[in-house]
Amino acid sequence: MSKITLNSKVNVPNHVAVIMDGNGRWAKQKGKFRIFGHQNGVKSVRETIEAAAEIGVKVLTLFAFSTENWSRPKREVDTLMSLLATSLKKELKSLQKNSIQLRAIGDLKNLPEKAHKELKEVILKTASNDRMILNLALSYGSRAEIVNAVKSISKKVVNNELKIENINEKTINNHLYTFSLPDVDFLIRTSGEQRISNFLLWQIAYAELYFTNTLWPDFKKQDFYNAIKEYQNRERRYGKTSEQIETNE
Ligand code: IPE
Ligand code: IPE
Ligand code: MG
Repeated sequence: MSKITLNSKVNVPNHVAVIMDGNGRWAKQKGKFRIFGHQNGVKSVRETIEAAAEIGVKVLTLFAFSTENWSRPKREVDTLMSLLATSLKKELKSLQKNSIQLRAIGDLKNLPEKAHKELKEVILKTASNDRMILNLALSYGSRAEIVNAVKSISKKVVNNELKIENINEKTINNHLYTFSLPDVDFLIRTSGEQRISNFLLWQIAYAELYFTNTLWPDFKKQDFYNAIKEYQNRERRYGKTSEQIETNE
């Protein structure tokens, strides 16, 4: 593949979200167990984080484990959780070096104690880093997040802290796990699947979508740059006409 030179000065998406898919198929193609794919996927996570930080992405949200993934065989779930704990421990140093702040969204209390503890520790230790936010979606489901938001908003209404007529899009935003983050500009999914799989349904309302056949363990810096290059050539019209966008109307 020819190397693509990227203009990292213009039109870099602020918030990139990635559905990291295809680990199992990657391993299977090599005659190995699915777990081998997950282990190799960690390298792609590292490259994607570095690549995003280097071009000035401000928020990178990675879908690492969905609420639905709890239904996988216990052995696979256990391995994924221990891989999470060990990777967090290992990556702390490079997060600090690159001034990357770790955050997490999802039903985190469902994580095994070791992974949860490691996660909280890295979040705490990187809290003042300000180059990029790395937001891990763990035990995450978008519908569960929305249900959660509806409950919090309803409580406020019942307690007279909020009037129904004052509920607007901002109110919903403010009650999602992603309350302090900007909307997703660019959503990447690897492995050829073209679906959202219950990921950030509200937050991707106007995101540009990008699907690649590359399986996650094969997804490297250059693949990320190729994706960004395509983003830079898209015109985000938000319902307006092309002419309006050109003249900044
Ligand atoms: C993505 O790869 C990793 C997780 C969902 C945790 P998969 O494990 O879904 O790999 P495929 O889609 O079965 O190939
Ligand atoms: C989505 O991938 C979840 C993550 C990447 C963590 P899945 O492989 O679980 O999604 P489906 O089953 O193909 O929808
Ligand atoms: Mg999959």
